[in-house]
Amino acid sequence: MPTLVIVGAQWGDEAKGKLVDVLGGQADVVVRFSGGNNAGHTVIVGTEEFRFHLIPAGILHPNVTAILGSGMVVCPKGLLEELDRTRAARPIIGTLKISAAAHVVFPYHRMLDRLEEEARGENKIGTTSRGIGPAYEDKVARFGIRIGEFVDQHRFARRLGEVLKTKNELLARLGGERLEYDAVLSEYSAYADRIRPYVCDTEVMLQDAVAEGKRVLFEGAQGALLDLDSGTYPFVTSSHPVAGGACLGTGVGPRAIDQVLGVAKAYTTRVGTGPFPTELADATGDRIREVGKEYGTTTGRGRRCGWLDLVVLRQSCRLNSLSGLVLTRLDVLSGLDELKVATAYRFRGETIRHIPANTWELDELEPVYETLPGWSEDLTGARSLDDLPKNAWDYMRFIEEFTGTPIAILSIGPARDQTIVIREDLIWG
Ligand code: IMP
Repeated sequence: MPTLVIVGAQWGDEAKGKLVDVLGGQADVVVRFSGGNNAGHTVIVGTEEFRFHLIPAGILHPNVTAILGSGMVVCPKGLLEELDRTRAARPIIGTLKISAAAHVVFPYHRMLDRLEEEARGENKIGTTSRGIGPAYEDKVARFGIRIGEFVDQHRFARRLGEVLKTKNELLARLGGERLEYDAVLSEYSAYADRIRPYVCDTEVMLQDAVAEGKRVLFEGAQGALLDLDSGTYPFVTSSHPVAGGACLGTGVGPRAIDQVLGVAKAYTTRVGTGPFPTELADATGDRIREVGKEYGTTTGRGRRCGWLDLVVLRQSCRLNSLSGLVLTRLDVLSGLDELKVATAYRFRGETIRHIPANTWELDELEPVYETLPGWSEDLTGARSLDDLPKNAWDYMRFIEEFTGTPIAILSIGPARDQTIVIREDLIWG
């Protein structure tokens, strides 16, 4: 059963898109299992750059079936724009399938996302404003409109009327504008007509694929520390980007998963608000942002940058039961004399080696750092581990030893060939 889950091991933006593109070519099926177009996966093929928010990046490979799983929330407009854009650049792409059980994101979700953020004032989460949280709220309240209903003309017309009535009352209470039923129905029915051919019971399709021994890649979005339960709540997304979410959001059971790779940057970044113990609000942080081009694919916001937090990473290795790590962006650290990595925190006079569940306590944490020597060599041309300077080797070895997890793949640039596979056995088993 060659199945592989890829998740972000930090706070998102770990360069999963590139990895899913590289490994997607070896898969029969690539499936997204959580989130919506809050994600942004950039893939560079030669001189072309593709940005995916909803469609699994694996779609660039013509033999791949790319699935939007039941755990997702799907903005139909965004999906169709992305599909048109990809097809314009690549007439032949993989096959697209969308779970009938996934939920639809409507304009009122986006409006509510913004209004709720405004209402939070200083405590805002810094969401991507894509309506993700409000769409998941409807799902949990058992009030959401699922893709299967959306593409059923009569059911959609009836459900939209019912839902809009409540949403317009809510929008009015929060000072927002009302939405007109006829306008939304006509715009969204046109999207539904285009989406209908792709909709099916993808859960059965995936269960069959697993049973037939096909290679299935579960494409994570966001990162483990943004998980609704295990992340830094409430500064989290509203779904389950951890490896366990791959089962919840696609309809396959836990024993169907063979390998789990966690993608981690050689340093740490975070967008939006929320605790970030190793954040560098100084020239080194600015340097990492500029060299690493740390600006959001979805929102364009500058990312907060800091040293590698190994306490976070070790927790993530356990939380996701990682078989291996994929270390990305090691090249960005070239030129720094010294590199710090957090190995514990000082908290109220004690040394602790985990992230407390009470998020407000994270603001009091003082990272305990180990300092490792840096390197000056440019790593972007490296094609094997032998091309790396000794200090880069040592940095990698320190990460492996501290987390107890081997580095399976190293990425030293955005292109497909800037990828060094170290442990083939940890990829497809
Ligand atoms: P939401 O997912 O738009 O509700 O945003 C909630 C939090 O998750 C915010 O801090 C966002 O910046 C963060 N977030 C959501 N998606 C991503 C992502 O793909 N990468 C990094 N951060 C994300």
